[in-house]
Amino acid sequence: MDLFSALLNRRSIRKYTDQAIPSGSIDKLLKSAMYAPSAMNNQAWQFIVVNQRKKLDKVLKVISHAEMLNSAQAAVLICGDLNLEKNIDYIQQNCSAATQNLMLCAHGLGLGSCWIGVYPVKETISGLQELFKLPEYVIPISLVSLGYPAENPIAEDRFKTEKVHFNKW
Ligand SMILES: Cc1cc2nc3c(=O)[nH]c(=O)nc-3n(C[C@H](O)[C@H](O)[C@H](O)COP(=O)(O)O)c2cc1C
Repeated sequence: MDLFSALLNRRSIRKYTDQAIPSGSIDKLLKSAMYAPSAMNNQAWQFIVVNQRKKLDKVLKVISHAEMLNSAQAAVLICGDLNLEKNIDYIQQNCSAATQNLMLCAHGLGLGSCWIGVYPVKETISGLQELFKLPEYVIPISLVSLGYPAENPIAEDRFKTEKVHFNKW
């Protein structure tokens, strides 16, 4: 799959088969995330891989609307590290770039994924900090559910010329 096709065809997948994800694929997802751009190249991120059913169920208790975790084989919690980057606005952007890289890599590997919003919802942040015993300088930003797709949403046409501005508004 070429990159342009991958970008246009990726959709959020919220239902997964019971096929396990090979550990080599998890390594590739994490590697892709760590190759994302980051402010001043400070790479101020940390990743929690959740691959135990019991733990996924506990996450579901913290984020009740994350019903995709019911069939997910794994999830990755992308966190910012305030020791490496003081500016929370940059942390959000860095982690978002890493999240998108990870999701595109998943798509390239034939895996489905869905971005589950964490930051800036205070109760979700504190619930995950408690569940994973995160140090206070590690801020959860986004969660990505993962698994082989059990649904196949079609690509949408999203290109809107009226949203493009050349040289002035
Ligand atoms: C910051 C952010 C938070 C999101 N949070 C959720 C979420 O909590 N639950 C969910 O089902 N999808 C969530 N999504 C996925 C969006 O709903 C999805 O990307 C959007 O509907 C477009 O569909 P697509 O991913 O299939 O292109 C989130 C996406 C982003 C970027």
